[in-house]
Amino acid sequence: MDLIESIKANARKDLKRIVLPEGYEERTLKAADISIKEKIAEIIILGSPASIMADAEKLGLDSIKDATLVDPQNHDKKKEYAELMVKLRGHKGLTYEDAIKQIENPLYLGTLMIKNGDADGEVAGADNSTGDVLRPAFQFVKTKPGISVVSGAFVMILNDNEYGENGMIVFADCAVNPNPDENELAEIAVATAHTAKVIAGMDPKVAMLSFSTRGSATHELVDKVVNATAIAKHMAPDLKIDGEMQLDAAIVESVGRKKCPDSEIAGKANVLIFPDLQSGNIAYKLIQRIAHAEALGPILQGMASPINDLSRGCYVRDIVNMIAVTANQAAGIS
Ligand code: ACO
Repeated sequence: MDLIESIKANARKDLKRIVLPEGYEERTLKAADISIKEKIAEIIILGSPASIMADAEKLGLDSIKDATLVDPQNHDKKKEYAELMVKLRGHKGLTYEDAIKQIENPLYLGTLMIKNGDADGEVAGADNSTGDVLRPAFQFVKTKPGISVVSGAFVMILNDNEYGENGMIVFADCAVNPNPDENELAEIAVATAHTAKVIAGMDPKVAMLSFSTRGSATHELVDKVVNATAIAKHMAPDLKIDGEMQLDAAIVESVGRKKCPDSEIAGKANVLIFPDLQSGNIAYKLIQRIAHAEALGPILQGMASPINDLSRGCYVRDIVNMIAVTANQAAGIS
């Protein structure tokens, strides 16, 4: 787990304020306690302070007292945040009365704290669906300038070094966009190469995956990947990227040589871009479960401030790792 240790070491260099909206959730509280003890971040927990402290005592979490606790029902900035919400989304019909109700939802409160400069990043989703975590983020934090689509990458840490770079391969989009069009797929490829570089320290070699390699099949689904590859090359002329190719041509040297003899990516890819969310989400879970790989993510790419979502099946250590990744993103490392 060298990568995770180095991400934690980076987080310790410049402590960021990470908000955890699910303060009623046991794994979240345990992760908060570990993150405070390991000095990975300053932790803000949302929820009833009395319940959080009672749960912490029951669970023996003696560092929770060093977190900042904010009660979504009753805090000093409720009106200020509601006014900011109306300023940002009044044109979409959001009234002050609706905003006051919405801001009591910890998932909205977390994103407004970030937007208002009161927190640097958020990790949520141990108990909420991806859609419920992302919607407030899309509405109020929005994408980085020049980016139209947020996507979710996983650094897959394999048990040996046979594939990828030092046994690591970055997968995307595994979390957000059900059916990206060719422009969105190209953006996802460019963003994922950036994540591979800044979070995993890789020299990205991007394969645009399909069930076809270099025209071996013809179908509109293949055309989308071919076009996205061309668009990505145009967007990032220095990017090492190739496609369309099948998974074996992308990561197995002998197959890559046979199917794409002139490619500098085939057989050596360390970033895999899936054509849609069905394939990306299934692939990462398959490798995680069957090959017992560590799945670090989803690391959300393209958001103006870092907000990361968890799988509801996550372990405490996944939450701690994502707090560290979020702190790295907030420090401008990504
Ligand atoms: N990037 C940036 N902004 C986006 C994106 C995106 N990918 N998708 C939607 N938005 C914005 C829209 O532009 C819109 O903004 P606006 O209100 O200012 O106009 C706002 O978000 C809402 O857009 P909708 O299209 O109404 O989005 P909706 O809320 O229906 O859905 C969502 C967005 C929730 C992310 C949806 O795409 C989704 O459910 N995706 C699948 C998530 C999922 O289930 N993933 C698998 C599990 S994750 C895991 O296993 C780790």
